[in-house]
Amino acid sequence: DSFDLVIRGGTVVTASETSRCDVGIRDGRIAALADRLPTGSREIDAGGRLVLPGGIDSHVHIDQPSGDETVMADDFLSGTRSAAAGGNTTVIPFALQHKGQSLRAAVSDYHARAEGKCLIDYGFHLIVSDPNEQTLGQDLPALVNDGYTSFKVFMTYDDLKLNDREMLEVFDVARREGALVMVHAENYDAIRYMTERLERAGHTEPYFHGTSRPAPVEREATHRAITFAELVDVPIMIVHVSSGDAVEQIRWAQSRGLKIYGETCPQYLVLTAEDLRGLNMEGAKYVCSPPPRDPESQDACWQGLANGTFTTYSSDHCPFRYDSPAGKKRKGERTAFRWVPNGIPGVETRLPILFSEGVVKGKIDLQQFVALTSTNHARMYGLAGRKGTISVGADADIAIWDPELRRPIRQENLHHGADYTPYEGMEITGWPTTVIVRGGIVVEDGAVVGQPGHGTFLKRDLSPFAKPRGKTWLPG
Ligand code: URP
Ligand code: ZN
Ligand code: ZN
Ligand code: ZN
Repeated sequence: DSFDLVIRGGTVVTASETSRCDVGIRDGRIAALADRLPTGSREIDAGGRLVLPGGIDSHVHIDQPSGDETVMADDFLSGTRSAAAGGNTTVIPFALQHKGQSLRAAVSDYHARAEGKCLIDYGFHLIVSDPNEQTLGQDLPALVNDGYTSFKVFMTYDDLKLNDREMLEVFDVARREGALVMVHAENYDAIRYMTERLERAGHTEPYFHGTSRPAPVEREATHRAITFAELVDVPIMIVHVSSGDAVEQIRWAQSRGLKIYGETCPQYLVLTAEDLRGLNMEGAKYVCSPPPRDPESQDACWQGLANGTFTTYSSDHCPFRYDSPAGKKRKGERTAFRWVPNGIPGVETRLPILFSEGVVKGKIDLQQFVALTSTNHARMYGLAGRKGTISVGADADIAIWDPELRRPIRQENLHHGADYTPYEGMEITGWPTTVIVRGGIVVEDGAVVGQPGHGTFLKRDLSPFAKPRGKTWLPG
């Protein structure tokens, strides 16, 4: 039979190999990979370009309201439009449980936000902020069974943080259900204490956001999370790792045979604390947690990507408008850094930054690029087989790259809802030009042509990486 679409003459790259071949697509799936396939109903000439599995961004925040008056800059339409333009075909945002809200209600709420709006496929991680009996005993097990097979816990933030006992309880449920836990590792009390001291000394500018949560704050929490994971015998993913100290903790745990995984993000590779120094509130554009640090930390994160300490590289896209009272630039009494919403946009620039700074500059190879941006996300979060690779039978989720296209990152060219990019002016070599989701063309020669509602919800399998080792310190 013939193909709906043939991608012809490109260089197909997967996490394990690079080869010249045509890609034949039928009914949304990859149907054939071979030289000189017969003509398809539609053809794309990929000569001189790379044909990669579409990016999977397993750490994004979309349309996620926080407790205060801040408003996230992306809903599921603009968020997935921006993701697609950046070469992504799947995102896994969060369904956040507010304290007092049932986890079920949170999940329904996010489905309503996403329904009919997404240009690319999506799943949901859960954020567990209220680990009561209902949550731990009923909702969490049932939701894992329904395909929400990962959840995030926070060791800091007023509205989200769990105490040590709660962490252990949630880890225990994850072990029993086979779910993967993502951990935001920073010490809450240390940050509070540092913040209050800084404020008393009059240091309230955005720059001091970084000073309030230095590397030891991250290192201690990372170590504590690892300790709890060992006690309970549950694999965990330490997300948005920013410092050499935290990388060292993860490597130490891995060398002891513990199943501790790590993720880092573009901001920790190319930004530093110096970016937080701007006139007036400009530094707020770079406020995220953990904060960008120094060149040594950048090197440590690059090394962690190159040597396999990190399994995934995500954006932690968490967009706020700068020039808005509901965003970064606070007014009146709340201009101190502690009131600046944490998070920066990055879903559209994640892949180009790693390609340009990593592949083009020789820090990682093409196989690592594909693994870190796509394949490992699918494997880690229960989408293997369907997503994250180019093989017969997998979903036809593809990003065609022009590896030589050189242009700077400019806010005016991005598709997110934020009014700035922290990477303004950065020179990039290598951009995605055409993006295909389940055989449907979503981005064509750089223009977003996809339709809202083309993206579908993904029930995810249990992660094979979440299997306990079988060595617990838990009594009973
Ligand atoms: O500053 C950040 N990272 N905001 C997003 C929320 C989170 O902690 O991932
Ligand atoms: Zn976090
Ligand atoms: Zn995040
Ligand atoms: Zn469609």
